[in-house]
Amino acid sequence: MDIMIIITSPPGKFQGTVSLPGDKSISHRAAIIGSMAKGITEIKGFSNSRDCWSTINCLRSLGVNISLDSDLLTVEGRGMKLSPPKKRLNAGNSGTTARLILGLLAGQPFSTVLTGDRFLRRRPMARVVEPLRQMGAVIEGKGSGLPFTITGAALKPVHYRSPVASAQVKSAILLAGLYPSKGLTTVEEPYPSRDHTEIMLRQFGVQVEADAGRVCIAGGQEPSGVFLQIPGDISSAAFIIVAASIIPGAEVLLTGIGVNPTRREIIDLLSEMGARIELKNPRLWAGEPVADIFVRGGRPLRGITVGGNQIPKVIDELPVLTVAAAVAEGNTVIRDASELRVKESDRIAALAGELSKLGVRVSELADGLILEGGRPLQGTVVDSHGDHRIAMTLAIAGLVAKGQTTVYGAETIDVSFPGFIDHLTRLS
Ligand code: S3P
Repeated sequence: MDIMIIITSPPGKFQGTVSLPGDKSISHRAAIIGSMAKGITEIKGFSNSRDCWSTINCLRSLGVNISLDSDLLTVEGRGMKLSPPKKRLNAGNSGTTARLILGLLAGQPFSTVLTGDRFLRRRPMARVVEPLRQMGAVIEGKGSGLPFTITGAALKPVHYRSPVASAQVKSAILLAGLYPSKGLTTVEEPYPSRDHTEIMLRQFGVQVEADAGRVCIAGGQEPSGVFLQIPGDISSAAFIIVAASIIPGAEVLLTGIGVNPTRREIIDLLSEMGARIELKNPRLWAGEPVADIFVRGGRPLRGITVGGNQIPKVIDELPVLTVAAAVAEGNTVIRDASELRVKESDRIAALAGELSKLGVRVSELADGLILEGGRPLQGTVVDSHGDHRIAMTLAIAGLVAKGQTTVYGAETIDVSFPGFIDHLTRLS
């Protein structure tokens, strides 16, 4: 069903306290490693996103008992041994599900067919297939993307230099690296990507060594079930943080949000642009840094340049950063972000096309965007390109565009942030 949302600006106010569902990246890892563990894993605050339910459904098809009782997800670990599925697994729209589950299946002694929706079937998979083949898994498909038939094997450790900084690739290799009975598996990346798998494995008692851009894991280790409280999702929070930063008079407190240094770049970049953002009450949940984030709106912003090692730390927040860039004084330049072209949509093309409909002066680069800030935005009809983060970015732009903005294809928002519209409605 094609759902549209209509945003009328300016909002009467933008104020309140928000607590968000658990981080999507961390939730995937908790469920997958919990399934590989010995014993029970209890997860509080598991993400209610459609992507994370794709992971749960794949794991259930592999014989894992998983139950949800109010806010507590219980995973009965299978001690590294899963059951052959009766039907093909479907990762839906979720790249993390597909790539991490491939790592999990690489060590299982049976064949599984894995597919995804039409967006996921277009996304690059060679980056994860190649190292898993080097470890001994047999992965067959008609083209370079899903669907694949993967047949697990007695894996051997690998030393893999990934050409892309990708936490999904790194995580698939680290999960597979648990299966060899001994030997060190090492992953090197051009820039450090998010380190949730490393942190999560340690929560389960697995030893992982990491220094900048290099991670090692010894085979033959078995995770043990634990209790985990998942931090609120910074990538969902980013939409509200940007909105609160650009709406005059806004005051929003977001409680219990993950602020892992490999994910919090959006806060640092908005602060550099001039936004007033304070982190309060720092603490640790499931080994992850968490804080309450207080944002006060209305301070004029200025354009910035983003690139290099900042990109992996803000890759999912770059779409919404463009809205802050559009209202800021001066130019914002985003470089080294060609990965945006192989996300749920080609986000560089989608942002350039849709933001220009709203009156933003934006030009496309092969690996990024140049945005000329400070021109008034004009509400109009825009489209999500079937991409949850583009839909939400356009809704936030609609809050500061003159008149009415209609976003088509908003049903995709549930992929990462069910409740997004309710939060916006309540705050405004
Ligand atoms: C993710 C890693 C990133 C990110 C994605 C989630 C993860 O993708 O964009 O939304 O959970 O590991 P890449 O690994 O492709 O960079």
